[in-house]
Amino acid sequence: MIQLMDLQKRFKQIEAVKGVSFQVNQGEIFGLLGENGAGKTTTLRMLATMLQPTGGTALLGGFDIVREPERVRGQIGILFGGEMGLYDRLTARENIQYFAELNDMRRTDINDRISYLAKMLDMEEYLDRRVGKFSKGMKQKVAIARSIVHNPQIMLFDEPTSGLDVTSARVVHEFIRSCKDEGKTIILSSHSMKEVEKLCDRVGIIHRGSMVELGTIEDLKKKYGNDDLEEVFMKLVGDNHEA
Ligand SMILES: Nc1ncnc2c1ncn2[C@@H]1O[C@H](COP(=O)(O)OP(=O)(O)OP(=O)(O)O)[C@@H](O)[C@H]1O
Ligand SMILES: [Mg+2]
Repeated sequence: MIQLMDLQKRFKQIEAVKGVSFQVNQGEIFGLLGENGAGKTTTLRMLATMLQPTGGTALLGGFDIVREPERVRGQIGILFGGEMGLYDRLTARENIQYFAELNDMRRTDINDRISYLAKMLDMEEYLDRRVGKFSKGMKQKVAIARSIVHNPQIMLFDEPTSGLDVTSARVVHEFIRSCKDEGKTIILSSHSMKEVEKLCDRVGIIHRGSMVELGTIEDLKKKYGNDDLEEVFMKLVGDNHEA
């Protein structure tokens, strides 16, 4: 389970996240929707313990991101769209191995797990090549394998399909679904209403650092009397909306 409690982040004069609270249950995919600069990445980076909150906190799998960040790290898998953070000079296998070792996995377990993931993701052919010259889709698969090598119960996705073609985006979508089928707890940020409608059980709309609406997609459509999620979104965050 994931529980945010009045989570805040201030960067000097910018209040990027202004006290956000919500809960995501086990086996649920929660979608974070918001315009550019709304605070989605900042929120996810705090949950991933890459960034210290300036107020409030969150519990991930029972561990507190402020007081027990290293315990949190062992519970979570992260797939962030833009910066994949792979080492170009290492092979795909070495990239995954390195991350698994950081998570204190045993060598034999690591080898077995990598063989399994390479097969599942159809990346056996290039497993032992350096990732430097990989296409974006190939890199994305390495990043996917790395994100779940330690079998985390919680998955954080920040625009995981940005910049990917239809085929690669589908691989990511199937991966997110398989995580749900395994009972993982998931947060996904996205700009794509289609993606959100396809995958998410509930969504939260974040605007200028605050959560302005939260519910199932059906609930939101009903509440705003509109069957088009994009129009509901525009009603909530559009230019003529009072912040
Ligand atoms: N390291 C930082 N230093 C200063 N300000 C930052 C920093 N990171 C983010 N911000 C600011 O915080 C606000 C929220 O940014 P954030 O990246 O969380 O938005 P986002 O919802 O992920 O947007 P996008 O959809 O463009 O990815 C923005 O005003 C941004 O400029
Ligand atoms: Mg972002």
